[in-house]
Amino acid sequence: MTIIVTGGAGFIGSNFIFHMLKKYPSYRIVCVDKLTYAGNLSTLKGVISNPRFRFVKLDICDREGVFKLFGEEKPDIVVNFAAETHVDRSIYNPSVFLMTNIIGTATLMDACLEYGAKRFHQISTDEVYGDLPLDRPDLFFTESTPLHTSSPYSGSKASADLLVLAYHRTYGLPVSISRCSNNYGPYQFPEKLIPLIIANALNDKPLPVYGEGLNVRDWLYVEDHCRAVDLIIHQGKPGEVYNVGGHNEMRNIDVVKLICGLLGKPESLIRHVADRKGHDMRYAIDPSKISGELGWLPETKFEDGIKRTVEWYLENREWWETIISGEYKNYYEKMYGNRE
Ligand code: NAD
Ligand code: TYD
Repeated sequence: MTIIVTGGAGFIGSNFIFHMLKKYPSYRIVCVDKLTYAGNLSTLKGVISNPRFRFVKLDICDREGVFKLFGEEKPDIVVNFAAETHVDRSIYNPSVFLMTNIIGTATLMDACLEYGAKRFHQISTDEVYGDLPLDRPDLFFTESTPLHTSSPYSGSKASADLLVLAYHRTYGLPVSISRCSNNYGPYQFPEKLIPLIIANALNDKPLPVYGEGLNVRDWLYVEDHCRAVDLIIHQGKPGEVYNVGGHNEMRNIDVVKLICGLLGKPESLIRHVADRKGHDMRYAIDPSKISGELGWLPETKFEDGIKRTVEWYLENREWWETIISGEYKNYYEKMYGNRE
């Protein structure tokens, strides 16, 4: 069994590679990653010399390169994690999101058709459903909730989802899609809320909270997401969409205060800064389809997962400090410099 995992030098893709190599001793994993600002080869150092692992630096929009690789590897399964993923960056520069998230996905599917892959799995997001109002806690996203996007990021992910379903209907490509809620855990790039707050708190820097911090996200430990994708690619039905989420809704301000508490840092570090444009209020997933059909349930409670995550960032300072001192520094100044 050969699986091509795109975006495997990023947060969730790397965790998925570790999960798969450990769980399936006969599988070969080929990681394709362009190594953008968000991709970090050092994340993969524990597997890079594994004979069942191959790393290929490649842009998923590079049609010639993708077809050449698929010709060499003839993958059984392709799991597409590669994407531009940060909503704030998409607001400043949508075009790269359209290229990677839409054209890149189509390029991979064309190669799957050409070389007969038995499954193309698209890693999508709950953000394709837009948001839910705060005063309707009874509402959840199901797989039949209409797509209704808010940011160029979510618009590009929804476009890709539509294309994936179109390739299934038109060409019979055996596809599946998972739409997951916010992930947290080891190796998350410190531009996303949880690692950014941990890193800033450890450096006694201000903790930026957009607006009042009342927006709600449904947090899932990354390993639980990896287990869900593992189940879907093996047992999920072709042509189907599966929502993945752990019924773990938290307001941003409460997440930030919790991290302050875990690190013993004062809440006076919190700064309420200008809100994100088009900021989604609440995400909440109904995971009953994947639970009912595939028996998936989240295993890590938020209070355990967040402690484990904070410990990981404490023990792996070099990993994120290297990132903070690089290109990310310019981004941080541009994004937060004039926001207070
Ligand atoms: P990430 O930003 O940490 O990693 C993305 C990876 O993709 C990086 O390694 C980057 O180098 C690579 N990449 C970007 N453009 C590429 C291109 N053109 N060709 C090849 N590689 C390229 O992202 P993540 O948080 O790990 O997210 C992975 C996937 O999961 C994305 O598709 C995202 O939409 C989805 N998702 C993320 C979350 C979350 O909370 N992080 C939640 C739901 C869904
Ligand atoms: P983020 O981690 O960017 O994920 P997403 O926007 O995809 O949900 O943000 C999570 C929430 O935290 C979101 O409501 C925006 C908010 N946020 C802040 O309040 N401050 C920050 O510095 C960041 C990066 C996010």
